[in-house]
Amino acid sequence: MSALRIEGYVIVSADGMLANAKHVMPDSLRFKGDQEFFNAALDRTGLIVHGRHSFEGQPNSPKRKRLILTSKTAALAADPSNPNAVLWNPAGATFDEACDCAGVRSGTVAIIGGPEVFAMFLDRYDTFWLSQAPHVRLPGGQPCLPGVPERSPQAILAAHGLKPGEPQILDASHDVSVTPWRRAG
Ligand SMILES: NC(=O)c1ccc[n+]([C@@H]2O[C@H](COP(=O)([O-])OP(=O)(O)OC[C@H]3O[C@@H](n4cnc5c(N)ncnc54)[C@H](OP(=O)(O)O)[C@@H]3O)[C@@H](O)[C@H]2O)c1
Repeated sequence: MSALRIEGYVIVSADGMLANAKHVMPDSLRFKGDQEFFNAALDRTGLIVHGRHSFEGQPNSPKRKRLILTSKTAALAADPSNPNAVLWNPAGATFDEACDCAGVRSGTVAIIGGPEVFAMFLDRYDTFWLSQAPHVRLPGGQPCLPGVPERSPQAILAAHGLKPGEPQILDASHDVSVTPWRRAG
C-alpha cells in the first residue's frame, strides 16, 4: 500500500474545458480566489505531477519537486533545466519508481494536468478538487478529461468511485467554487 496521498486540481469552464481551442488556458479561466486556493494547496504538497505543456507558474514553483511526463525520455531522467524536476515516461517506469527517483516516498502528491495526466490517476485520487467557472464557456476547447463533453467531468469522477463533498466559494462575484471529490470509504 502506497504511503502517498494523491490529489487532483483543475479549474474548468461550464462546458468542462480546461483550455481554449488553441490548447491555451485563457485569462477568462483565471480567478484570484482559485489561484490562491491552488497556490496554498501546492505549498502543502511534496510533489507535483504534470505533462510537458502544463506548469502552475507561481512564485514558489522553482522550489517545488515535480515529475514532468514526456515521451522524450525512455523512463526517468534529470531535467537539465530544473534541478527539482524529474522527466518521467510512464511507458518506461512506474509512478512509484518515478516518486522514488524524485526522493518522495510519503506525503501528498498533486496532479495538475493536462487531461491525459488527470486520466492516468482516476482510480488513485484520494481527493480531486474540481473548480468550476459556471459563467465561462470555451466552445471547441480542450476537455479537462478524455470523454468530456460527451460525459460531464462529474459523471467521470463518479464512475471512478469519487463522491462530491461540500463546495467552497472561491470567487463570489463570478460564482466560482471548488468541490472536493473524495474516494468513498
Ligand atoms: N484549467 C486548468 O486547471 C488546467 C490544468 C492543466 C493544464 N491546463 C492547460 O492545458 C493545456 C495543456 O494541455 P496538454 O494536453 O498539452 O497537456 P500536458 O499534459 O501538459 O502536456 C502534454 C504532453 O505531456 C506529455 N505526456 C502526457 N501524458 C503522457 C504520457 N502518458 N506518456 C508520456 N508523455 C506524456 C507529452 O509530452 P511529449 O510531447 O514531450 O512526449 C505530451 O505532449 C495548457 O494550456 C495548460 O495551461 C489547464
